[in-house]
Amino acid sequence: GDDILAIAHEYDVDLEGACEGSVACSTCHVILPEEFYDLLPEPDDDENDMLDMAFGLTDTSRLGCQVK
Ligand code: FES
Repeated sequence: GDDILAIAHEYDVDLEGACEGSVACSTCHVILPEEFYDLLPEPDDDENDMLDMAFGLTDTSRLGCQVK
């Protein structure tokens, strides 16, 4: 699908995505602009658990593979 992870790969952006969208890693961590973050539905519990392990977590962090 056209999640941020897929779009990043399409444009050769260096975003890892080790588990390919199964919410089992945090290598697809992205930090979003606040305006964009606010438009999205809240992360679910699985995503929040993985985000807690992400390096450099911020208030507008998401897992790229979960943002469509
Ligand atoms: Fe692993 Fe997104 S690619 S959680």
